[in-house]
Amino acid sequence: MTGAIAVLGSANMDLVAFVAKAPARGETVPGREFRTVPGGKGANQAIAAARAGARVSMIGAVGEDAFGMALRHALTESGVDTGGLRTVPGASGTAHITVDDEGGNSIVVIPGANGTVTALAPGDEERIAAADALLLQLELPIPGVLAGAQAARRHGVRTVLTPAPARPLPAELLEATDLLVPNEHEAAALTGRTDPYEAARELLRRVPETVVTLGEAGSLYARRGADPLLVPALRVRAVDTTGAGDTFVGALAAAAVEGRPMAEALAWASAASALSVQRPGASASMPDRDEIDSLYDEGKPHR
Ligand code: RIB
Repeated sequence: MTGAIAVLGSANMDLVAFVAKAPARGETVPGREFRTVPGGKGANQAIAAARAGARVSMIGAVGEDAFGMALRHALTESGVDTGGLRTVPGASGTAHITVDDEGGNSIVVIPGANGTVTALAPGDEERIAAADALLLQLELPIPGVLAGAQAARRHGVRTVLTPAPARPLPAELLEATDLLVPNEHEAAALTGRTDPYEAARELLRRVPETVVTLGEAGSLYARRGADPLLVPALRVRAVDTTGAGDTFVGALAAAAVEGRPMAEALAWASAASALSVQRPGASASMPDRDEIDSLYDEGKPHR
């Protein structure tokens, strides 16, 4: 069974400098390579879910520039329906990224067109209602994100919120969230707890389910009334971790809307993000369903 996913989120052109070590304040360092790669947390999750086999529709905005055209093309090329992606006057969102030799990154995001998505546009609610799950992140203005989550609620559509970049979350948004997927830093920022188990327990007071992603340590799934489940990550050599969390969420959602049990969906999503960190670029590194299946099957004897 193929499930349907709507994504309400950002699309950015990632302007990526690959360097040995990111410059400190006031420092200039030579870089090795520059690439432009379609990204943005929303577009990344949409592309990851589509490559993982879901039917995906993207809601958001790009600017009237060459980056906007390239972002739309990248989405459609991966099979994402871009009927809900409007083109607005001005520049597209951009992310200015340095990736170091250990695969770590630092990012400055300029919202551009993403900043215009403060409410739903005609047709958006129908797109959300037609989906099994709505994926949300925090690179759009909060009123836009909230409008999407509340529309999903009205239609009984499951909401999955990635609270990144970390910022305070209004109570109404958490009330309209079914599954919250922070990384360990975002979980700590939201709860004041650095221990992921404690943070997850605290988050369950506000949402029914959470997955705290822990990088190389895997992911921690917690649901009200059940024991937490730690799903280990696969050991790989990372060259670029940009978009790894988005790959995880996109693949997890694709597996969940197919009706796969959560433990299996988490291990499958973990295989997807392990593949993505071994290649450079956000959307450029995202695996397709067959690749995820092969790595997932390889890992089975160890689970
Ligand atoms: O999550 C990774 C994404 O964050 C990058 O693609 C970049 O666009 C920033 O938004």
